[in-house]
Amino acid sequence: MTELTIEQHRILLDCAQTQGTPTYVYFEETIVRQINKLKKHLSGLPLQLLYAMKANHSVPVMQTMLREGLGIDAVSPAELVYALKIGFPVDRVLFSANNMTDGEMHYATERGVMLNVGELSRLEAFGQAYPGSDVCVRLNGQVGAGHHEHVITAGDKSKFGIPVEQVGDVHAIARKYDLTIVGLHQHIGSGIMDTKTLWQAISVILDASSSFENLRFINVGGGLGIAYRPDEQDLDMSSFDRLIVEPLKAFIDGHPSEGLAIWFEPGRFFTAQCGVLLAHVNTVKEGTTRTFAGTDSGMNHLVRPAMYGAYHHVLNLSNPEGPLNTYDVVGNICESSDFFAKDREVAQLREGDIIGVLDAGAYGMSMTTTYNMRSKPAEVWIDLAGEQRLVRPRRTVEEMVAQEMRQA
Ligand code: LLP
Repeated sequence: MTELTIEQHRILLDCAQTQGTPTYVYFEETIVRQINKLKKHLSGLPLQLLYAMKANHSVPVMQTMLREGLGIDAVSPAELVYALKIGFPVDRVLFSANNMTDGEMHYATERGVMLNVGELSRLEAFGQAYPGSDVCVRLNGQVGAGHHEHVITAGDKSKFGIPVEQVGDVHAIARKYDLTIVGLHQHIGSGIMDTKTLWQAISVILDASSSFENLRFINVGGGLGIAYRPDEQDLDMSSFDRLIVEPLKAFIDGHPSEGLAIWFEPGRFFTAQCGVLLAHVNTVKEGTTRTFAGTDSGMNHLVRPAMYGAYHHVLNLSNPEGPLNTYDVVGNICESSDFFAKDREVAQLREGDIIGVLDAGAYGMSMTTTYNMRSKPAEVWIDLAGEQRLVRPRRTVEEMVAQEMRQA
């Protein structure tokens, strides 16, 4: 769990006052810290970091990634175009759309962006359309991991990637259409704290790589977890060094082809801790067995608790020293899965208080909806100098209604 500094606490209360709620606030310094942390641990490897923009595509977040030399993992045409508009060079964007259509394939290829293909039939279609091209292939090495069943993206139950057992078919299609497999990719899941399993998965694809002669990169995916609970430890970077970085270095040193690079493509590790969702406590209600603190935000703005039972720490920013009471901190959406925290001790919440839902910078805003016809939150950027900037306003009721009626 992120510990806020006194200054960050002050800035958050200030944002709530100047921009209102619900509002996502992102601290640039946290993103830069996380990027530097990973770069430091991976130094010595021929490395390209990509950012999985599905975690958070707010413009200044993307600009920070660009400035820091990262590339982009894009999974839809809109993500792809957005990344190019931000200024990412085409050779630093990888297009990994799931169940890719012909249209999507042409869209990326015509823009010079490399495809990451996760189905044999798509590889065949790509070969037919673009014989003699370079391509990356996503493998499923049958080792998956993640913080919840829903976010495991390898293994026999997973729809992602070409089973590693079918590598022979990959070669056959490549030969047929003179395709060069220049990259191998895997992504085994999200919120992984267990570096041993991550290495197990990586070693499967490293083994598989021996039959590919023209590889320029092996992309081992994202998935690095962060601590959300106060009693949880951050990802153990010394075991990351020992179990992953050192063996990767040994692999590269022993590899016959010069210029083979290792790519990582995290989302959460870079952005989760930078974001706080600010909400206003509208109602405090005593039920028969519990006290409900009802806010002006909810599962439409941060779906992770409802979707995965995910823990996000809730702070009462207005009354941090208040006596601890136990609450269900809930949203204003008409669903009983609409909660931020259940049975949670929080410093006494009063109507009018501002809460901060912590570690909400990844898969927060990017998974929002306008369910119940409520606007998405505003977004505020706090730059390295501590200056705040509204980067996305909330929609007014009138704008929401006009937008929906235009679509009718
Ligand atoms: N690469 C690919 C191909 C991915 O599909 C993903 C995430 C990533 C990289 C980045 O994974 P990360 O480093 O962020 O774990 N909504 C879920 C997480 C879903 C992740 C989907 N794919 C959550 O809130 O926990």
